[in-house]
Amino acid sequence: MRFVANFKMNHTRASTLEYIDIINRELEGFECQNVLIFPPATALCEGKGKVEVGAQNAYFEEKGAYTGEIGLEQLREFEISKILIGHSERREILGESQEFVAKKFEFFKEQGFEIIYCIGEPLSVRKQGKEALFEYLFSQFTNIDTSYENFTIAYEPIWAIGTGVSATVEDITLVHEGLKKEFNKELLYGGSVKLSNIEEIAKIETVDGVLVGSASLDAKEFAKMVKKA
Ligand code: 13P
Repeated sequence: MRFVANFKMNHTRASTLEYIDIINRELEGFECQNVLIFPPATALCEGKGKVEVGAQNAYFEEKGAYTGEIGLEQLREFEISKILIGHSERREILGESQEFVAKKFEFFKEQGFEIIYCIGEPLSVRKQGKEALFEYLFSQFTNIDTSYENFTIAYEPIWAIGTGVSATVEDITLVHEGLKKEFNKELLYGGSVKLSNIEEIAKIETVDGVLVGSASLDAKEFAKMVKKA
């Protein structure tokens, strides 16, 4: 079971370093897969002990004239080789198109990065039924090389992100089974995963791991989730 924490625009460099130490202390002697965290760009650092570090975002170039972005050169400084691509907040709030997302995927694929590729539908699509749901989700794989070995799919329904209301076991199972059949990749679920529902979600057969936002921000709470699952 994989535990992945997306800090989004939370935590500083100091608090991220402290976070890593707390996780290592809390999980000392506990048998589990390494925890992967995605701190904001200003807090990127090397992984330590049981904690690996990835980038929430980066531009698809080594370096250059891309104001406000970071690229491969900045990631290499901290030996970062994992990246989140396609998160709904970047698609919806930052306006990243599928074409843009696919360029990023291609670039980081060429660099051999582990890509955590996020997909998810808005409530309006979910309400239209199964066919519309899968049509929408599969469209988020346009120009994505799904034969790439080092990538994981994170299914994060937009209506479950930050709302406190997770998708149900049935919702997750339905989508995950469809994804597994189509792509046969490691699958994560994200959207209001927390201490009170982690056991139920971890039990779902297709769930290989979770991508956690709000409930990952407190290191002790997150470590408790790892232990509970
Ligand atoms: P929450 O866990 O806050 O719902 O966020 C999920 C998410 O978007 C992780 O990438």
